[in-house]
Amino acid sequence: MAQADDPTGPADGHNHPSAAAPSSAAPTTAAKPWGGVFDAATDARVEAFSESVSYDRRLFQQDIRGSVAHATMLAAVGVLTDDEKNQIIEGLTQIGWEIAAGKFVFKQELEDVHMNIERALVDRIGDVGRKLHTGRSRNDQVSLDFRMWVRDAIDQLDQLLADLQRAFVGRAAQDEGVILPGYTHLQRAQPVLAAHYWLAYVEKYQRDRDRLADCRKRVNLLPLGTAAMAGTTIPIDRQMVADDLGFEGLVANSLDSSSDRDFAVEFVAALSLIAVHLSGWAEEWILWSTTEFNFIKLPQQFCTGSSIMPQKINPDVLELTRGKSARVIGSLQSLLVLTKGLPLAYNRDLQEDKERVFDAADTVRKCLELAAPLVAGSELKRESIAERLDRGYLDATTFMEHLIHLGVPQRTAHGIVGKLVGQAMKAEVRLADLPLAAYQELCPELDESLYNVLGVEHAVQAFRSVGSTRPELVAEQVKLWSHRLGTNAGLGMNETKPS
Ligand code: ARG
Repeated sequence: MAQADDPTGPADGHNHPSAAAPSSAAPTTAAKPWGGVFDAATDARVEAFSESVSYDRRLFQQDIRGSVAHATMLAAVGVLTDDEKNQIIEGLTQIGWEIAAGKFVFKQELEDVHMNIERALVDRIGDVGRKLHTGRSRNDQVSLDFRMWVRDAIDQLDQLLADLQRAFVGRAAQDEGVILPGYTHLQRAQPVLAAHYWLAYVEKYQRDRDRLADCRKRVNLLPLGTAAMAGTTIPIDRQMVADDLGFEGLVANSLDSSSDRDFAVEFVAALSLIAVHLSGWAEEWILWSTTEFNFIKLPQQFCTGSSIMPQKINPDVLELTRGKSARVIGSLQSLLVLTKGLPLAYNRDLQEDKERVFDAADTVRKCLELAAPLVAGSELKRESIAERLDRGYLDATTFMEHLIHLGVPQRTAHGIVGKLVGQAMKAEVRLADLPLAAYQELCPELDESLYNVLGVEHAVQAFRSVGSTRPELVAEQVKLWSHRLGTNAGLGMNETKPS
């Protein structure tokens, strides 16, 4: 995400060996931390194939933080002296600064962010640095770093979702009293308040936040101490590391721990639903911004034009938001397929998890960052909406319920109103334009007062049920959400910038 986690400084050592040299492609000479048992140097093509440092360098802050906690614990249990611990922490801290400043050179032949940082530490402080990896493996190290990254990403996304909710609540306050046609099957159905629409989205994004919070519980368990897969003989104190790094508990089983990527799958599943919610909203507003609907004016800063058709103002941000859901959903699919056939415990396949998670999180973050100001900066075209509210017999259902209140059985009432709508359609008029005689012929119980029931304004007021679009209930909900989101509705969507 944006926690300065994309330090630049290109991975060097990119050899481009010729395709026609099966086993003799120039091997690199850099000694591998795991090289003891090997007689042959790694084929350069294999190094290029298996490296992850080009993208997992984004984990450098988490890697350093985790290593500092590990070293601190090793000293506390007597495996390192205080002096050794201090040298390690100082070295790691300096490396962290260098990476953040873009001055660190990552080496492809050192595979990943973990080995790059460890090697830099040894280069800096010598043999003491070689003690850092005591009681630890890259298998639990990568899981630790990744969990911390996902945890941070969840916290950041939660803020962005709250910003978007505030933008919708802001719209709800601003559009108080505006009536919109509600649709089912994209056919005009019943009248609803615009605020009711906006709060529908607030609810969806609240569920998204709840899902992320729930996912966070399982993300926030410490895997470190699993070592390679069976645990370690070193007398480590896992609880101490967990407390230091803010984990709520320990992953219990070492085999489970080194193979578990459920947390990543769950995270991207939650992201997929956010993307689906964003996509549905984008689709709705794309339609609403067309000349045909003419319901909404999008802020021009969020639209682009056409290079050939001078009149065009296209809703590109919304279209891309709709389109980008595909890659988030694709990432979820990738992760599920990636993990479905893996035996316990760590398998190198798992290295393929990170780019999918990074991309899904980045994509949703970017969409959310634009969604909030777009929502706040759009305008309902009230006149254009109002002019056509009489079309589509939006009052037919509440009128049918009026007959039920008069004692007519529902099915009978449905039939009567259906006939009346049929007559009105033929005459191309509103229900309210039919003469009283037409009503009384089908339903003698009716009198003049029926004209106080017809029309969208009356219809909206007639709703009773909890959760309906009844104006007082909607106003209550707007208040409740404003309070809950700690907002003067609509303000503050720019207050949370990625740290
Ligand atoms: N880069 C690896 C990953 O992302 C780290 C763990 C590698 N462990 C190993 N024994 N090769 O999964």
